Amino acid sequence: MAWRSIGTSKEELFSNLCYRNLIHSDPVEKAMKAVDRANYVRDKRDVHAYDDLPQSIGFGVTISAPHMHAFAVEHLLDFLHPGARVLDIGSGSGCLVAVMHRLVGDTGKVVGIERIPELVIRSKRNLRQDGLGHALDSGAIEMVAGDGRDGYAPGGPYDAIHVGISATATVPQVMLDQLASPGRMLIPVVGPFMQEAIEEIEKDKDGNVTRRKVMDICYVTLT
Ligand SMILES: C[S@@+](CC[C@H](N)C(=O)[O-])C[C@H]1O[C@@H](n2cnc3c(N)ncnc32)[C@H](O)[C@@H]1O
Repeated sequence: MAWRSIGTSKEELFSNLCYRNLIHSDPVEKAMKAVDRANYVRDKRDVHAYDDLPQSIGFGVTISAPHMHAFAVEHLLDFLHPGARVLDIGSGSGCLVAVMHRLVGDTGKVVGIERIPELVIRSKRNLRQDGLGHALDSGAIEMVAGDGRDGYAPGGPYDAIHVGISATATVPQVMLDQLASPGRMLIPVVGPFMQEAIEEIEKDKDGNVTRRKVMDICYVTLT
C-alpha cells in the first residue's frame, strides 16, 4: 500500500494525515484544521499547497511538510495546553507557530524566531492572512528576527520548545535553561556517526533532564 502525499484541498490533506495516523489526537486535528496552509506557501493559489511535502518559500528555505508539523505538535501536546508559553526556533513561514497558537490560545504565548528578517515580515503577513492578526497585535504571537541558536530568553521560560534548525551534536545549554520545569523540547541532534535524529528532551518539575530519540531523520537539500 502506498502513502498518498498529494492533496488537492484542505480536507484531502487532513484525511490523508489522519489515515496515516500522523494526526492521532482531537486537539491536534482541530488545531491543524484551523490553519490554512495555503496562507503560508509562496503563492496562495499554489496547486501544491495541500501536498504533504516540503515546499520552497524563497530565500533558499522550505515550509516543512504537514506531517512534520503534526509530528511536532503531537509530541509536544502535553505542554501545549491553554495558557502555555512556546518557542519555535526557525519559524519560517509561521505555519507551525499558527498551529501551536491554536492549541495554547489567546492566554498563551508563541514566539517564533527566524534568522531571515524578510521571512519574518512575510510570516507576519501570512499569519494575518490566516486570521491571526489579533494574536500578533495582542502579543499572543510574537515573531522575532534573530539567531535562534541562543533560543530567545526574553520570552522564556517555555513550556515547550520546538527546534526546527540544523542538528547539532549537543543540546545547547541556553535552550535547556529556557525550558520550564516541567517542560519539553523537540530538537534535531546529530550523532557520532553523523546520523541525525529528533530527540525529545524532557525537564521534570525538579529540573531533572531526560533525553529520548523519537525519530531518525535525513534532510535533503531541495533545489
Ligand atoms: C525547514 S525551515 C522550517 C520552517 C517552518 N517550520 C515552516 O514550516 O515554515 C527552517 C527554518 O529555520 C531557519 N533557520 C535556520 N537557522 C536558523 C537560526 N540559526 N536561527 C533562526 N532561524 C534559523 C531557516 O531560515 C528556515 O526558515
